Amino acid sequence: MAPMMDWTTRDYRAFARTLTRRALLYTEMVTTGAVLHGSPRERFLGYSEVEHPIALQLGGSDAGELAECAAIAEAWGYDEVNLNVGCPSDRVQNNMIGACLMGHPEKVAAAVKAMQAAVSIPVTVKCRIGIDDQDEDADLARFIDIVASAGCSVFTVHARKAWLQGLSPKENRDIPPLNYPRVHRLKQSHPELHIGINGGIKTLAECQAQLEHVDSVMVGREAYQNPWLLAGVDEQLFGEPGPARTRLEAATAFRPYIQQRLDEGAKLNHITRHLLGLFQGCPGGRRFRRHLSEHAHKEGAGLRLFDDALGLVREPDTDTPPVDEQTTKQPVA
Ligand SMILES: Cc1cc2nc3c(=O)[nH]c(=O)nc-3n(C[C@H](O)[C@H](O)[C@H](O)COP(=O)(O)O)c2cc1C
Repeated sequence: MAPMMDWTTRDYRAFARTLTRRALLYTEMVTTGAVLHGSPRERFLGYSEVEHPIALQLGGSDAGELAECAAIAEAWGYDEVNLNVGCPSDRVQNNMIGACLMGHPEKVAAAVKAMQAAVSIPVTVKCRIGIDDQDEDADLARFIDIVASAGCSVFTVHARKAWLQGLSPKENRDIPPLNYPRVHRLKQSHPELHIGINGGIKTLAECQAQLEHVDSVMVGREAYQNPWLLAGVDEQLFGEPGPARTRLEAATAFRPYIQQRLDEGAKLNHITRHLLGLFQGCPGGRRFRRHLSEHAHKEGAGLRLFDDALGLVREPDTDTPPVDEQTTKQPVA
């Protein structure tokens, strides 16, 4: 599951665990500044035990700071620490964070080396296939070679380049065309490295097809907007039964977590916003969504309101494990 700012929050990740035990979950990007100086640290690094396996994604470029943050991540119990070399926003470019670092492979290598020296958990990199005019197989291979020579052996590659000038971050997730074959060729030329692929992947069948060419698949928007996709992951990709056989079972299993977060002072809508797409395609799915959208932000909204929303949907009868959404998806009623 891809790192996504404002989307893969701890509440989202806890909810994802009602659907899959095995998928590796990434946090939102947390900058080194937030890790080192943010207060309280719990706000930036806190998570619940159910979220394992979980990777902390860091944004930064200063090797010393990144090493310090990696050590903090390990002390907080994260299973992996990942460096963001893919985000193209201006704000982060000004601080030398994200995709602009693809133009500075030596800096990334130094950072990764320092991080690795500080921890025993894996240090991984998420990058693009290229930036601006640095957009050939050889450019990507050069970046990977330099960073790999510093000791990084796990890369997830978003299979589209980023234009650092002229496109917004959102446009940079859609407009540059996907180029899966470049990532596949990267794996062929670097069989000793773990190469994961990301970008535009929407079904578990597509994940399976990608796994013929690469070592792992990272899914972002589709898994967030259509969370039921995750319910097939354990069975179809790992050969193990998943935690929930129905959407209702997953939603019900999430109730104690919701109550615990409400007791801690969280607002219901901050938690339930991540579930709005759960019943996509089910009879009443839109009513479920509307009920939560219209009422969950109100003072005093709690589990009762959540249960009312659940009462508005009907799940298509199923006692078979969830299948690929592509075969079951219907227009939202
Ligand atoms: C709302 C949003 C926030 C994102 N935030 C991050 C981030 O913090 N770090 C990162 O590496 N990528 C971030 N991304 C990019 C995703 O991780 C992923 O690379 C991208 O969406 C392409 O994958 P997809 O087509 O499966 O969504 C974000 C994407 C979205 C939609």
